[in-house]
Amino acid sequence: MSNSFEAARAAFTEGVRLFEAGQLPQAEALFLESLRRVPARPSTLANLALVRQRLGRPAEALEAIEQALQVQPDDVPAWFHRGQLLQQLQRPADALAAYERLLALDATHGTAWMQRGSLLKDMGRFAEAAASFRQALAHGADEELNRYFLASAEAALGAGPGGGGSQPPAGPADAEPAAAAGAAANRGVAAVAAPGGGGSAHEAPPPAAAPATAPRHYVQSLFDSYAEDFDQHLVGKLGYRTPWLLAQLLGLPAPAASAASAASGPSGSPATATTAAIRPATLPPTTPTTTPPPHWRSALDLGCGTGLMGPLLAPHCGVLDGIDLSPLMLQKARALGCYRHLVHGDIVEHLRSTGDSHDLAVAADVFVYIGELQPVFEGVARVLGPGGSFAFSVEVAGAGNERYELRPSSRYAHGEAYVRALAAAAGFEVAAMERTVLRHDQRHPIGGLLWRLVRRGVG
Ligand SMILES: C[S@@+](CC[C@H](N)C(=O)[O-])C[C@H]1O[C@@H](n2cnc3c(N)ncnc32)[C@H](O)[C@@H]1O
Repeated sequence: MSNSFEAARAAFTEGVRLFEAGQLPQAEALFLESLRRVPARPSTLANLALVRQRLGRPAEALEAIEQALQVQPDDVPAWFHRGQLLQQLQRPADALAAYERLLALDATHGTAWMQRGSLLKDMGRFAEAAASFRQALAHGADEELNRYFLASAEAALGAGPGGGGSQPPAGPADAEPAAAAGAAANRGVAAVAAPGGGGSAHEAPPPAAAPATAPRHYVQSLFDSYAEDFDQHLVGKLGYRTPWLLAQLLGLPAPAASAASAASGPSGSPATATTAAIRPATLPPTTPTTTPPPHWRSALDLGCGTGLMGPLLAPHCGVLDGIDLSPLMLQKARALGCYRHLVHGDIVEHLRSTGDSHDLAVAADVFVYIGELQPVFEGVARVLGPGGSFAFSVEVAGAGNERYELRPSSRYAHGEAYVRALAAAAGFEVAAMERTVLRHDQRHPIGGLLWRLVRRGVG
């Protein structure tokens, strides 16, 4: 018996070592070996769940964590892990129940309040979501992220700046994936709240102001987790077509289905065949023209993501650079072979500090993560010479909103007048502006504006 226990412990310890060394299948085998000798040990089951989750098998991870909870029903970390796995398995109601069970055990768990809030927000239960984010803030969870989510939930209630009550909730089917809990692992304990409580109706706190921009770690974690499926999900399922619409607005010919594969970058390496296959089902017809397509010396793709704009622009540019916050999105863009430099960083910081100059800057579906656009416009004006073009999309803010609003979808929308004023102040003329449907969210069309600005000559 004691030999068996020793052998189980040795297998467990070695399993942890291999897990930390990234040898996941070997670690799983050792945890199973340990469980064979001492069955149903909660700490081993918890590690087995973790390794299976890392191996991309959340359903099996859930089985392991449920076994652990049968032995130790009050294990708070296990309830948290169960909630995360249920979210990953697209079972929001069960995930919500898991976080609520956890909060009944430990009402000071700020990150569980935040996850509960995100689920409630996605379900359109905005008042409860806002109360949950306030609890998360009171209990030391990631302040920047919770303020951002709180403002977006309150906007849906019509309480926040701009109101946004008519917007659909960011439902699980159409929304980008929720930020991983890891994006906000900052668990502190500040005060004790009533278990299961969601804030008192009597308190009526003032509405949260919309932050000027989405938290960077949120954007990075969101898109790192989205990188693998981004092209297929957005273009294939959600009908995303902004890069192609911006290319049209810039006067570029629509590429034939196979033409994208012929796009080549400065290194002459062809874009992958996968890129050629990614194409929106519907694009507005283009008027045939005898005018030759434009050519730019140097273009900069702001928030380039996986590089959907790359093959559209590269044949018309001397060089094409990109910048993005998400290393895993950048990895996809790099594989296309049509970008010269790909910078990992924040757009505004890059625009303020780079020594490069360009004659084209584009930003497709990026300003949904940046509310206050003044620093971006000033930065673009800094890197573009006179006559340079700046093409981008924005979701269009609700009537009466003259600046920007943070929506329940956790995305920003901008007012037309706001963009026009910023453009004029930063030295741009509006060369073209089109209204369009950018994509669908919960089957609601999301209206947008496509812009092409031209930098005025100096003097
Ligand atoms: C919806 S994706 C669009 C990607 C690409 N432009 C396209 O049309 O396929 C938004 C991208 O903007 C990036 N992004 C958002 N805010 C950013 C910032 N402040 N600095 C750099 N990249 C940012 C995200 O990481 C993400 O890759």
